[in-house]
Amino acid sequence: MIVTIDGPAGSGKSSTAKKVAERIGWNYLDSGALYRTWTLLYVMGGMDKDYFLDVAGVHKVTLSVNEKGTGTEPLLNGEKVGDEIRQPIISSNVSAVAAMGPVRDKVNEEMRRIVQEHHFIADGRDLGSVVFPDAALKFYMVADLGERAKRRYEELKSKGMEVSLEEISRNLADRDAQDSGRDIAPLTRPEGSVEIDTTAMDFDEQVSFISGLINEKLTV
Ligand code: DC
Repeated sequence: MIVTIDGPAGSGKSSTAKKVAERIGWNYLDSGALYRTWTLLYVMGGMDKDYFLDVAGVHKVTLSVNEKGTGTEPLLNGEKVGDEIRQPIISSNVSAVAAMGPVRDKVNEEMRRIVQEHHFIADGRDLGSVVFPDAALKFYMVADLGERAKRRYEELKSKGMEVSLEEISRNLADRDAQDSGRDIAPLTRPEGSVEIDTTAMDFDEQVSFISGLINEKLTV
């Protein structure tokens, strides 16, 4: 069974999905982390699109479910990528990489394979609309840009990264525009999804709301 949470960058999807998964004992799948891992490969190859698509190929990123069975972890050539995929250089290039058809095909194939094995909560941009249109429950999470930038700033600071609020705000706005405006699988509110505006909600409220609906609507 799969539950999807889509929405713009920084709306709180990942942290909420992770916590809900822990609470109800499901697995968590962060699809953005897969696009970020592809972007790491792109950046390492000098940001040359032809080289990236032809030479680096699209066969090097694999995803594995970790041993505790609560999360997933992208691997690049078998190696963990860790917080490297959260660096600003990755955030500024990820929307361009995610707009490439071969990359999307590869990520979707990997995700569809992995969800066969467990119950999953997955977050992204096109999960409820394109990748898992038959998801058991779909959420669409939004929040004001200012609030999203503040949350992302605090998150990155707590990881020890040197970032500015203006830079983060600009990056989120740019990604909103690119992710919603691209030709393939743009960010959109999936049909049949439950919309949640988290601007004025705290984290526990978000988690309780989603876990509550899952418990109410789904029999696992
Ligand atoms: O969730 P995130 O901000 O880490 O995602 C990084 C980027 O990956 C996002 O700006 C667009 C892309 N992405 C996508 O195109 N489709 C998804 N399902 C998930 C992420």
